[in-house]
Amino acid sequence: MIKVRNLTKYFDDKQVLNDINLDIRTGEVVAIIGPSGSGKSTLLRCLNLLEKPNSGTIEIKDVKLDTQKYKERDAYQLRQKTAMVFQHYNLFKNKTALKNVIEALLVSKKMKKEEAIQIGVDLLKRVGLEKQANQYPATLSGGQQQRVSIARALAVKPHAILFDEPTSALDPELVNEVLQVIRELAKEDTTMVIVTHEMQFAKEVADHVIFMADGHIIEQGTPEQVIEHSLNPRTQRFLRQMGDETDESARQKRK
Ligand SMILES: Nc1ncnc2c1ncn2[C@@H]1O[C@H](COP(=O)(O)OP(=O)(O)O)[C@@H](O)[C@H]1O
Ligand SMILES: [Mg+2]
Repeated sequence: MIKVRNLTKYFDDKQVLNDINLDIRTGEVVAIIGPSGSGKSTLLRCLNLLEKPNSGTIEIKDVKLDTQKYKERDAYQLRQKTAMVFQHYNLFKNKTALKNVIEALLVSKKMKKEEAIQIGVDLLKRVGLEKQANQYPATLSGGQQQRVSIARALAVKPHAILFDEPTSALDPELVNEVLQVIRELAKEDTTMVIVTHEMQFAKEVADHVIFMADGHIIEQGTPEQVIEHSLNPRTQRFLRQMGDETDESARQKRK
């Protein structure tokens, strides 16, 4: 359902994506892992043209676009196919949880207010926040705010949700409530691309894992292939570092 061919991206003369090829099937959960600065966020942002790629083609469902020459209408169509969940939840501070969730329905989809509210209430229920519908973001925990932003992403019925490190800004004790919502979505066959540092979570929820470094896809495969039994020295080194980090933070907490 998502097909990327020969995607490249430069910032000035620095190449940050190098000939990226990707195939994601409907209902599949893909985890992207890799060191900081390897181009993971840029790749997600290129998929919905938040960043303009330098070359390559992107196909999502019935929209196919050559990134070097496309009509604004096609770009618009492509953007409608995905919704993004960011590390920093980016909620409207002056709107309640419910208003945040239904904003796009009212503004872009021109839905009737009662209908949008019904959808918004159902979505908040799905992420366990029906009681918080009328609260403002400042009165919600980080985990709750992130769950609101997941409900907001679901509201527009995207073909895929793109998560960029959805839990890395959260206090450790709030991580699991967000991962749990994503696990539930995975069970319902929601197509998702998740950039994450949570290796255990990636192993458990992903159908397919992509390891990126220096703008390249170094290897990809099942979680078993990439996370448990990688033969690639680069992947092994990264996973070892991640393991050390986890051990280190666990040690810090015990202190
Ligand atoms: N807007 C930007 N302008 C210039 N360089 C950028 C910009 N965004 C990202 N980069 C650079 O592109 C590279 C990849 O960044 P990013 O995609 O954020 O990596 P990751 O998400 O894997 O940590 C990094 O070297 C980063 O400094
Ligand atoms: Mg990033």
